[in-house]
Amino acid sequence: METLDAFISGLPKAELHLHIEGSLEPEQMFAFARRNKVALPFRSVEDVRAAYAFSRLQDFLDIYYQGASVLLTEEDFADLALAYFERVAADGASHVELFFDPQTHTGRGLPFQVVADGLLAGMAEAERRWGVTSKLILCFLRHLPEDEALATLAEAEPFLDRIAGVGLDSSEVGFPPAGFQRAYKAAREWGLKLVAHAGEEGPPEYVWEALDVLGVDRIDHGNRALEDPALVSRLARDGMTLTVCPLSNLKLCVVDDLTRHPLKRMLDLGLKATINSDDPAYFGGYLGANWLAVAEKLALSREDLVTLAKNSFTGSFLSPDEIVRHTAAVDAHAATTREDGP
Ligand code: ADE
Ligand code: ZN
Repeated sequence: METLDAFISGLPKAELHLHIEGSLEPEQMFAFARRNKVALPFRSVEDVRAAYAFSRLQDFLDIYYQGASVLLTEEDFADLALAYFERVAADGASHVELFFDPQTHTGRGLPFQVVADGLLAGMAEAERRWGVTSKLILCFLRHLPEDEALATLAEAEPFLDRIAGVGLDSSEVGFPPAGFQRAYKAAREWGLKLVAHAGEEGPPEYVWEALDVLGVDRIDHGNRALEDPALVSRLARDGMTLTVCPLSNLKLCVVDDLTRHPLKRMLDLGLKATINSDDPAYFGGYLGANWLAVAEKLALSREDLVTLAKNSFTGSFLSPDEIVRHTAAVDAHAATTREDGP
């Protein structure tokens, strides 16, 4: 029988939760630092990797924002995107909806346009080289004031035809979604899709707020929604997509062991969960590694894996026609494999 590894790598899939700045590998960090003559507080790649021991989200964010300081030019952002797409294409992804954090860069003096043009160039080249399509999602940093989110949205106006949606990321606890009601209302009026990180470290109330105050189309993470049965019913009834990130959850101590990861429970509760990598350079694995880790540790069936692959497309912002084409490709892959389970 085909191995689990081969089944997963051949399964058409989309990635819906990927911070492009979180794909910065330590080797690239040094290469960009050298190219741009930026000083780093690390002596070697090994030093950087040794610093990747996190006990909560904020430990990671401190290092992640520091790492991004090596990115200065349009070429840097294009190279960063292209390196990520090469890896995710090798993992069998056919579509990606990637986040970027413009305030991390504009806050240190880079023009919004340098970041957006560089990423868009990398995305277009990736589609030419590997046939992987992609959409860009602009994330507001929630530890900064809402007025700065609104100013960032205004800077994005010339790019509105190339930005699919807005998201909300960074430190969650103490920064509830309701603080960004005006920014989300403005984004909705501009026809953008809406997503928000909620329920990664924050309580179920933050997931309710993302739904009811911001009116999101997807919830990023959503793990802690499982603490509230009424919220689970609501998410299931609405068919709300959750972009779940297993290796991230392990590295940031949202779960203590992957065998206790809630992904399988989410599926069994009728929730529309998907598998994603979040910040793969920091959390020990790209999309394929996340799929393989949960498939093995949670003993997912091939039916579960097919459901997860279809969820990744039906939960995407692709057009209905494109979704039909991708889910048919998932069915075709499943039909070519034997049916006696992993
Ligand atoms: N920014 C990058 N990764 C993040 C995560 N997992 N949660 C919140 N903000 C982030
Ligand atoms: Zn994230």
